[in-house]
Amino acid sequence: MKITLKPAQKIHANLSFAHLVKDLPSSHLSEEENAFLANLQKRNPEQLFFAVPRLGQLVAVILVSKETDPDVRTEECRRAGSKLADQLAEYRTGDCYLAAGDDVPFEHLTAMAEGLMLASYRFLPYLTGKNAEKQAFPEITLHVVHPDANQQALDKLTLIVRYTCFARDLVNEPPFTMNAGSFAERIAAEAARLGIRTEILGKNRIETLKMGGLLAVNRGSVDPPTFTILEYLPDNPANDRPVVLVGKGVIFDTGGMNLKTGSFMDGMKSDKAGAATMAAVTMAVAALQLPVHIVTLIPATDNRVDGNALLPGEVITMHDGTTVEVKNTDAEGRLILADALSYAKKLKPLLVIDAATLTGAAMRAIGHYGVVAMEEKAREAMSLLKTSGSEVYERIAEFPMWKEYDEQLRSDIADVSNLGSGNGGAITAARFLARFTDFPFIHLDIAGPAFIEKKEHYAPKGGTGTGVRLLIRFISNFIQHPSLHKQ
Ligand code: BES
Ligand code: ZN
Ligand code: ZN
Repeated sequence: MKITLKPAQKIHANLSFAHLVKDLPSSHLSEEENAFLANLQKRNPEQLFFAVPRLGQLVAVILVSKETDPDVRTEECRRAGSKLADQLAEYRTGDCYLAAGDDVPFEHLTAMAEGLMLASYRFLPYLTGKNAEKQAFPEITLHVVHPDANQQALDKLTLIVRYTCFARDLVNEPPFTMNAGSFAERIAAEAARLGIRTEILGKNRIETLKMGGLLAVNRGSVDPPTFTILEYLPDNPANDRPVVLVGKGVIFDTGGMNLKTGSFMDGMKSDKAGAATMAAVTMAVAALQLPVHIVTLIPATDNRVDGNALLPGEVITMHDGTTVEVKNTDAEGRLILADALSYAKKLKPLLVIDAATLTGAAMRAIGHYGVVAMEEKAREAMSLLKTSGSEVYERIAEFPMWKEYDEQLRSDIADVSNLGSGNGGAITAARFLARFTDFPFIHLDIAGPAFIEKKEHYAPKGGTGTGVRLLIRFISNFIQHPSLHKQ
């Protein structure tokens, strides 16, 4: 992280600053500057972010929008923060003051700092020399000026952003430099620093556990699969039974023998985004020392073609003994997730949430503007997830879990098929997963928002870390709801 946040008493007038106000004039500008802005604003009534020309100094005024929905208003502050990041990158200034008028709540200022930090992310490991220098975000100290500003709140924010970027880094890593093993090692190294118990099961253990789904997908790979277990158990957890997080860790999805054609294979290094998200959430929860017992399960492999690769039409036997007719090797995510879900049963979980770039259908349905989610036996938790999603602006679009969709998954030669026979692909995928659960279950299909082709406000092009802020907020809210975890 190149940005350090510090509370401060007042704006240092000779340095760069951004001032968040409800209305003009800003007390930190001269009369002429205020008049200049008032004029600009008249011509662009929708515009909220204004840069004021001053020699060698970045001066910005940000207006809190008149939007009445508080979550949308907070989001506008994050977006203004991302505009500020663009300006700071240009000015290459070392110190910047971030201040708000007395009538602007601290949350608006932190949202701005959050947007700024999220927007300052760069994926640099493969740039050299001048190219790296040009792209790198400058080192900045942000002095946050507000009566409520305190180091603890700012550190918390920094942590959440850091782990969002940890997930982005994992997603952006290309498949040549990362396989299931090194992916697990990267996660284990970070988890160790945080006192998270980590176990990486290798191919032998996975075979002993008869995880037929994970092994089948792995057959086309030159690298063995891994099954990583992370456990964060604080001294006084709010929950008696663990919350289990499961993440799809497909290092690269070629589609397997049902090879992806045309441009459909582009960006498939992002097929490990669910796993990256769940690992990052676990780490953030541990770093924030939230009182919640979490177990995270990460099945990982790539999905490739090879002489021995899984063929369409094969019948495989899963960890729980269910037989699956693999009608399409490109529907591999559900195979590795199903094994993790049936493994979760023996943990007697309070709630299981999985995150996966599972279906193109989810992406086609809502684009990259939100997360497709479904639940079984987890009504109340889903409602809290939706609230949390609106708060952090990783919004939830709930799809139905009607059992009629199960008909599409019927197979003549096995207990179930891995391919739906009609429309509603995001739902049939979720119905497939639900067969392997006996606990309250929420499925998050992040295929749309996890990896984007073009920067969108504070979400960079490439891996976005979607689900990290969502689930940290959800878990924070969850532990404050005794009705949800005292069961
Ligand atoms: N990883 C893909 C889903 C995906 C598509 C993620 C686009 C991100 C962007 C998944 O494994 C897949 O290939 N799903 C198939 C399922 C189909 C064969 C039932 C799909 O959605 O086309
Ligand atoms: Zn696939
Ligand atoms: Zn996939």
